[in-house]
Amino acid sequence: MSTRFTIRRMRPADLERILAIENASFGSEAWDRNLFAGYSRTCGELFLVVAEGTRNICGYMITCTRGGRAELVSVAVDPRARGRGAASALLESTLRRLRRRAIARLSLMVKTSNDPARAFYEKYGFRKVRRVPRYYEDGADGWLMALPLAIAVPFERE
Ligand SMILES: CC(C)(COP(=O)(O)OP(=O)(O)OC[C@H]1O[C@@H](n2cnc3c(N)ncnc32)[C@H](O)[C@@H]1OP(=O)(O)O)[C@@H](O)C(=O)NCCC(=O)NCCS
Repeated sequence: MSTRFTIRRMRPADLERILAIENASFGSEAWDRNLFAGYSRTCGELFLVVAEGTRNICGYMITCTRGGRAELVSVAVDPRARGRGAASALLESTLRRLRRRAIARLSLMVKTSNDPARAFYEKYGFRKVRRVPRYYEDGADGWLMALPLAIAVPFERE
């Protein structure tokens, strides 16, 4: 049977679990508690968590919006829960929320070496815009990727 995911906004009580997923996913490059607390204040509307069933949080996705555009700033899924559609459920929910806000474009940065993440974004239609040399702290290059979002235009009678 396929896994059923629940998506909801992040709550302060989720922070410990998010930090555990972050550390398991990014190791020495993991973001710290203060950074996540900052994003929950500034981008809280689109700081989403995914749970298998209703209780066990297995991933998060943070998106920030500004002036009609949006940036997907981070996503991670617990290594034990990968490959079952958790990141897809997060992205599909984020895209629905962005379309409701009439956001025209979603962009992101991904390490050029991160093949799983790039494959994930490409599956959803993101395309490479340009390579950004030494974007990351460790000196690695990044791909700037973007996805135009179709905005539903209300039907007008003649
Ligand atoms: C990238 C990541 C978020 C994907 O999470 P996930 O829940 O395993 O992804 P899903 O199961 O929803 O996969 C959706 C699609 O992504 C692609 N994908 C995911 N993992 C992949 C892998 N290891 N190799 C190739 N493609 C992969 C596939 O196209 C997949 O579709 P399919 O199942 O029909 O083949 C997860 O691997 C992760 O947390 N990585 C570490 C953190 C990270 O790199 N974040 C991105 C920073 S920019």
